[in-house]
Amino acid sequence: MQLVQVPAGGGLGLRWLAQPRMHPLRVEFVDGALGHRRLYGGGRQQDLSRACGLHEHPQLSVVDATAGLGRDAFILATLGARVTLLERDPVIHPMLLDGWQRACRAAAAADPELAAVLACMSIEALDARAWAPTGAAPQVIYLDPMFPPRDKSAAVKADMQMLHALAGPDTQAEGLLDWALATALCRVVVKRPRRAPPLNDRAPSHQLTGKRNRFDVYTLRRLPG
Ligand SMILES: C[S@@+](CC[C@H](N)C(=O)[O-])C[C@H]1O[C@@H](n2cnc3c(N)ncnc32)[C@H](O)[C@@H]1O
Repeated sequence: MQLVQVPAGGGLGLRWLAQPRMHPLRVEFVDGALGHRRLYGGGRQQDLSRACGLHEHPQLSVVDATAGLGRDAFILATLGARVTLLERDPVIHPMLLDGWQRACRAAAAADPELAAVLACMSIEALDARAWAPTGAAPQVIYLDPMFPPRDKSAAVKADMQMLHALAGPDTQAEGLLDWALATALCRVVVKRPRRAPPLNDRAPSHQLTGKRNRFDVYTLRRLPG
């Protein structure tokens, strides 16, 4: 699969050469699905929020150690978390930064609420396993490693196919779990396909299972009251 970076809508896009009709993939926090989800989404009772503990403790510090296109991290920030996004891929990281910078410019002009959300996100180009906190350890570490490829009949979304083609399956995801468990203060949350075994075959403290995904929660200590 050949992918090339192209200018798109005043920002950085990724075009899939074999699919010329497909719009370039971009990181978009203002409009589209994420803009809609910020305004009308599931709030603090959605599974992602409950898995991280934001339904009871909205101002947690979270490290999203597999930031990708920043969708989960953005949702966590809209729910009140301070989120550090770590992305190691040299093509995906600049796209993420570009999407965040475009959103900051748009929000500064017209949307102080969105500007406040974006100010809670910081983005670093790094392999998470080389990251260590400079101050207090993050209360939550969130992992969404790339799933192994599904068979062709499964409707894998085009953006996930592109991400897969770029970053490939996360063959070192198991080391990532060990790092996260040694680094987080209170809990580690791992997003998995609904029926997949737990990462590293390590049983979580509890699970939240949705229609397509599951969140495995590893509790290390109680979240601050
Ligand atoms: C499935 S995607 C994450 C999608 C993301 N949750 C979202 O909402 O857009 C996995 C991402 O994790 C990144 N990744 C995998 N291992 C990593 C590591 N050790 N450190 C930093 N990034 C990593 C990959 O490059 C890929 O972009």
